[in-house]
Amino acid sequence: MRILLTGKNGQLGRCFLDVASSEHEIYDFGSDQLNISDPSQVAERIAQVKPDIIVNAAAYTAVDKAEEESERAYAVNELGVKYLAEQAVLLDIPVIHVSTDYVFDGKAVMPYLPSDQTNPRGVYGASKLAGEKALAVVTTKYIVLRTAWVFSEYGNNFVKSMIRLAKERDSLNVVADQYGCPTYAGDLAVAIKELCEQYQSQNELPWGIYHYCGDTPASWHGFARTIFALAKERGVIDNIPKLSAISSDQYPTPAKRPEYSVLNLESLHKLGVQKSQWIDSLNQVLIRLM
Ligand SMILES: NC(=O)c1ccc[n+]([C@@H]2O[C@H](COP(=O)([O-])OP(=O)(O)OC[C@H]3O[C@@H](n4cnc5c(N)ncnc54)[C@H](OP(=O)(O)O)[C@@H]3O)[C@@H](O)[C@H]2O)c1
Repeated sequence: MRILLTGKNGQLGRCFLDVASSEHEIYDFGSDQLNISDPSQVAERIAQVKPDIIVNAAAYTAVDKAEEESERAYAVNELGVKYLAEQAVLLDIPVIHVSTDYVFDGKAVMPYLPSDQTNPRGVYGASKLAGEKALAVVTTKYIVLRTAWVFSEYGNNFVKSMIRLAKERDSLNVVADQYGCPTYAGDLAVAIKELCEQYQSQNELPWGIYHYCGDTPASWHGFARTIFALAKERGVIDNIPKLSAISSDQYPTPAKRPEYSVLNLESLHKLGVQKSQWIDSLNQVLIRLM
């Protein structure tokens, strides 16, 4: 199967190459080879490759910086998605796209369903929501997987920051009043690969928006506690720093984050992909980081 992958150097892009490149013909592009905010480059590359499916792992993901770089965030997260979708329509192929839990305001008390009211609190979430909408305006052949709190052995992420800080410091303060679902990029990559293969065999997918994230919610503080316990067990760190729970008010950031962005995964069974068991996956990532 000919898969065009954008954002090949990101966490998801790299994990997707790890899980799919031995079985599929992947045409993978970094932002220097395919800038999705450039419509002529998008048209040219897609016309050259003539893929069977597009996997969009490219995104502007700097949540805080987006507050002052709104135009750049929208150029990638909204317009880039629209340009990919327009070319997909010309070839009559699907787009598998990834969005975020930050499309929600976090005021819920129950895990969010894909159909729940969105209301992003910051520019990043708003630009990702605009991308979801742009995709749906241009094509019906799409799957959006909203994911959350992504970690992996690649790039910068919370797991790698916590490991680094544990080696540098004796004590740490971590926010304990924001809840979400940590997700291993490799599990998301496997789910996307399986969707590509389902499309290859059936020429059809249950199009629409789904949630894909780790199966057990946590606060950032709880996530850090789990990382430290497993990292110590695996010998990745020698000592666990003293971990203090703080509130979001005590750790102000330019972008406001949702307090509760736990995603409901019930509709996932329709897609026929496995949930991400993030604690098992975290163990595997820690082994790779040793
Ligand atoms: N990370 C999270 O915690 C998180 C949470 C929820 C949802 N998500 C979503 O999950 C998906 C994957 O995230 P990730 O963690 O893998 O992101 P990531 O590691 O930040 O990777 C994003 C990639 O997109 C590329 N990119 C940026 N602008 C581009 C452009 N104009 N054209 C082409 N490529 C461009 C970047 O390439 P360069 O570095 O070369 O610029 C980067 O390699 C994204 O849709 C993201 O919004 C992530």
